[in-house]
Amino acid sequence: MKIGIIGLGYVGLTTAVCFANSGHEVIGYDLSSEKLHTLKKGVSPIWEPHVEEYLQAALKQKTIHFTKEISNVIQQSHILFVTVGTPSQTNGQADLSQVWNVVSQVQKYGQPGQILVIKSTVPIGTTEHIAQRLNDHDSPMLDIIHNPEFLRQGQAVHDFLHPDRIVIGYSQPQALEKMKHLYQSFSVPIIACDRKSAEMIKYASNSFLAMKISYINMIAGLCEQLGANVDAIADGIGADPRIGRSFLQAGVGYGGSCFPKDTQALLAIAQASKQTLPLVEATIQINQAQPLRLLQRLEQRLSSFKDKKIALLGLSFKAGTDDLREAPSLKISQELLQHGAIVHAYDPVVQSFPIREVICQTNPLLAAQDADAILLLTDWDEFRHLPWGELAHVLKQPLLVDGRNLLQWEQMKEVVATYGFEYISVGRPTLFSSIHPADRIE
Ligand code: UGA
Repeated sequence: MKIGIIGLGYVGLTTAVCFANSGHEVIGYDLSSEKLHTLKKGVSPIWEPHVEEYLQAALKQKTIHFTKEISNVIQQSHILFVTVGTPSQTNGQADLSQVWNVVSQVQKYGQPGQILVIKSTVPIGTTEHIAQRLNDHDSPMLDIIHNPEFLRQGQAVHDFLHPDRIVIGYSQPQALEKMKHLYQSFSVPIIACDRKSAEMIKYASNSFLAMKISYINMIAGLCEQLGANVDAIADGIGADPRIGRSFLQAGVGYGGSCFPKDTQALLAIAQASKQTLPLVEATIQINQAQPLRLLQRLEQRLSSFKDKKIALLGLSFKAGTDDLREAPSLKISQELLQHGAIVHAYDPVVQSFPIREVICQTNPLLAAQDADAILLLTDWDEFRHLPWGELAHVLKQPLLVDGRNLLQWEQMKEVVATYGFEYISVGRPTLFSSIHPADRIE
């Protein structure tokens, strides 16, 4: 099948390279000619595991092509995917300008019998609205489908190849059959429903996952007051299959381009229908407070941030990506700088940080040199194996704040006992060292 992809961000590009490696012919379009130029050379413009190797394999087999003419991609595809961004506006509503720009091009160049698939996350009712607009067109398309994506950044290729379910919001049964045929190699449930429900599934799914995170962060706050350990709580409740253990990792709060944007957008959608969504409101509130709660604990411990040097470990919103959108590191470094701290940072993949005053270093030891505390903000695997002895040696005081509960609390007891660290984490008792600073092993 000839598949067109409009918008080559991490969703569009992953979709393109995966289809191109599974027997389809793919043509990709993006507004950025620089991105197209890079892609044609076999280089991925985004840091997403396996995308580049899939891209190179598809280029070699000649199953993927890129074009800077949107008319080409529209005219040549049997199924045309729209994967452009729908960022938040200041009022929380999704900005649909990129989607509507594509629709106006489809109005011009669309072919009879084609299927247009909206994969971008759009407010409930948008796909039907697009269908109404395109139905006025002289040569109507077979159908306008909503097919939400559930790809996680950093695991997008894996998630594309191993989905839990495929959701298809449709109006024409013939188009549904074609979509089922497209996805026939995946033996997972296909949820076929009306287009509004498909759009809602995406928002409800992301809001529910965000709510799970805020729920455990709320419980973590109580654990800190009462001396309980949130890890045990997450294991204890997560073992119940009705609750499930995933997305119960307490920490500094969720970030990224999806949960913050989609929870806000769902609130805006509800507001437009004069409804309230108190669970979603609380989810957002807890998440916004979470980085500040962690900073307050650190500030209390240091008395003040004035002239204190803080080493941030990890800047991206989660491991496996260089994406900084809504990353807790942004809010935290702004707060630290405003309160007079000096901020150095290390991240394995983020090369440049938008806040100029944050000094990016090339390894954790350089970032931690003479620092008053380390603040771990991203769950990068390499931070599980830090050189504790050397860090204790270079730090002004061996204080480690783990904003991701990345390190095993039981194992940290040994690090604390051996190297004299004090270890603060989220919803778990603080570990103090009994070693006198002069007797620390370095
Ligand atoms: C999320 C969803 O997981 C995907 O299913 C969805 O397709 C995607 O949004 C989207 O809408 O496009 P993503 O934003 O890539 O994916 O990242 P997640 O792995 O879901 O993590 C989001 C944030 O929550 C990260 O900051 C992560 O560190 C945080 N998180 C996650 C926690 O704090 N605790 C957890 O237990 C899990």
